[in-house]
Amino acid sequence: MKTLVVFSHPNADSFNGAVLKTVTDTLGQGQHEIKVRDLYKSGWNPLLSTADLQKLYSGQVPDDIAAEQAEVSWADMLVFIYPIWWMEQPAILKGWIDRVFSHGFAYRLTEQGMMEGLLKGKKAVVITTSGANEENMRDNGILNAIDTCMIKGTIGFCGFTDIVYENLYSVPTVSDEERQNMLAKVKNMFEKYN
Ligand SMILES: Cc1cc2nc3c(=O)[nH]c(=O)nc-3n(C[C@H](O)[C@H](O)[C@H](O)COP(=O)(O)O)c2cc1C
Repeated sequence: MKTLVVFSHPNADSFNGAVLKTVTDTLGQGQHEIKVRDLYKSGWNPLLSTADLQKLYSGQVPDDIAAEQAEVSWADMLVFIYPIWWMEQPAILKGWIDRVFSHGFAYRLTEQGMMEGLLKGKKAVVITTSGANEENMRDNGILNAIDTCMIKGTIGFCGFTDIVYENLYSVPTVSDEERQNMLAKVKNMFEKYN
């Protein structure tokens, strides 16, 4: 399986970095081709600009967006790894989605006036990390918000059919042993794709 990992954390030595390593190591043991888009390291520009919109509306695609879209087209599975910041994804990832999942590439308006996802048949796995615990995430509505906005409203909207979501809770405050258990859980999640 061809897998594109979209990694959105500024520090490779973070817990998110350890999640990335676990995912690539685990998939690396199977028959996968893996590519990683490290958005901070690559200096991804998250701003959907006036010039971008003008080009996109006239049927052209800016070069940096076209390069990302080629990677998305190549992949059978996308894996998103990111921390929850202010209840949602880091701005750099929001900007990747704004620019890469563009009209005509990720979705289109049909002649009947219906939205149609164009990334059908692809799988997606979303792994997030939080400072909050599970009870807090459920009670304050973040889990519902992620499900509505990212899982259904973005990835599902674009046509992905097989979507798996997992949040790793209380990352900054749990013990090292608990963090290792979380990484073991991630390993377990990805072994099933091998
Ligand atoms: C700018 C910023 C905003 C954050 N907002 C939230 C939040 O809304 N909810 C939450 O549970 N944790 C929040 N956190 C905590 C991070 O989610 C947590 O520290 C991170 O997931 C731990 O993973 P890391 O060690 O790889 O960074 C925030 C952290 C930062 C830096």
